Amino acid sequence: MENSIRSIMEYVCASQSFEKITFSKCRDSSSGILRTQVKPFAKRGEVYVQIETFLSDGKAIHRNLPAGDAAEVLCEMAERQYKQTNIHTENGDCEIRFSKKDRCHIQNGIKERASSAAVRVLAQHNKQKRYLLDPADKENGGAAFLYRLGITDEGGRILDKKRPKYRQINRFLELLDDIYDDLPRDGTLVIYDLCCGKSYLTFAVYHYFTVLRGRDVRMHGVDLKPDVIAYCNETAAALDMHTLTFSCGDINAYTPPAGETPDLVISLHACDIATDIVLANAVRFGARVIMSTPCCHHEMFREMKSPALSFITEHSMLGQKLADAATDALRCLWLKMQNYDVQTMELIDPEETPKNLMIRARKRRQPYSARELSQYRASYDAACALLGCVPYLGRTSGTGVRTADDEGI
Ligand SMILES: C[S@@+](CC[C@H](N)C(=O)[O-])C[C@H]1O[C@@H](n2cnc3c(N)ncnc32)[C@H](O)[C@@H]1O
Repeated sequence: MENSIRSIMEYVCASQSFEKITFSKCRDSSSGILRTQVKPFAKRGEVYVQIETFLSDGKAIHRNLPAGDAAEVLCEMAERQYKQTNIHTENGDCEIRFSKKDRCHIQNGIKERASSAAVRVLAQHNKQKRYLLDPADKENGGAAFLYRLGITDEGGRILDKKRPKYRQINRFLELLDDIYDDLPRDGTLVIYDLCCGKSYLTFAVYHYFTVLRGRDVRMHGVDLKPDVIAYCNETAAALDMHTLTFSCGDINAYTPPAGETPDLVISLHACDIATDIVLANAVRFGARVIMSTPCCHHEMFREMKSPALSFITEHSMLGQKLADAATDALRCLWLKMQNYDVQTMELIDPEETPKNLMIRARKRRQPYSARELSQYRASYDAACALLGCVPYLGRTSGTGVRTADDEGI
């Protein structure tokens, strides 16, 4: 370990040897920050750090980070936000202090363990394995692409406020990577991102297929917002992503080019029934694979009328949880009714955002039997009867296209 802040932070995080780090003498004296304390903890077999900032009004702010992401953040705090940092490890302590003239003094008494190099390599390996998008990957253009999207600074460092988005899109890519073999092996892959918004995910998925997988891709994003779509088209052109295009409009009105069937439809955080609109249209287009992470849920909570479930719904918070789970479970069941195999999984740590469910659906080569389909239909109808409402997808026709009849107009 070199005698630099970065090297020390990387060492203590990778070797997971620190017991406590205290940051004091905040540079911004108007912030009301007294000090920040960082401690590691384990959750579901993974190591995290808890960052606890104590304020002068007696309050404290907490946030948790996977240990793999901590070095960068702690380094930034020690270099730019605080004038003093004290690190306590099982193998000695270290003090980092900035003088009045802002000269950095490091007194490092931490002894490197014999196995630390191996631990560090392993931690680095795990980190690389977990993050498919690597800002340091200059060879594959990862750095340029993340910088152009405002996720990193010019030096390739992930910006603090973009860390959650960075983790979300990386995790989305991992879940996509898992089903890569379900996509056609040859030819041009056709991909749509519905409700693409500012399109961090769209660019990341395009990068994943074209650069990391070396595939030919035709990708299209659709969103209602004209300014965002103009920005996305400009960004795609600036990044030489020539087969990535965006159009502005309602996805209910989007018509794919003649004869085109998407291999993959993705969607991240389409609000409320916009996720249903995504699923309905992905099915309408005949998508082979659909990957959708829902956003907020309002429809079911508002519409649900169920005396049988009033013991839950009388508690508003529990009613919301019930409505969220029922909405997503009925989305999955509806997809089965359209001949998809469906899986659900966690996108990221629920402590980071509650919007972390991934619905991954693959069109079945062998459709379900009529008997199976009628069982799914019966389950769907029974659930709606119990909940006292029929959600958006249940009101669409079997093809996923809403008709006047569906709406009772
Ligand atoms: C919360 S944003 C998510 C954007 C992006 N996927 C992300 O994760 O950053 C939801 C987006 O859905 C778009 N949207 C909602 N309903 C839509 C519809 N019917 N057709 C097209 N876009 C829609 C909104 O304009 C908004 O940009």
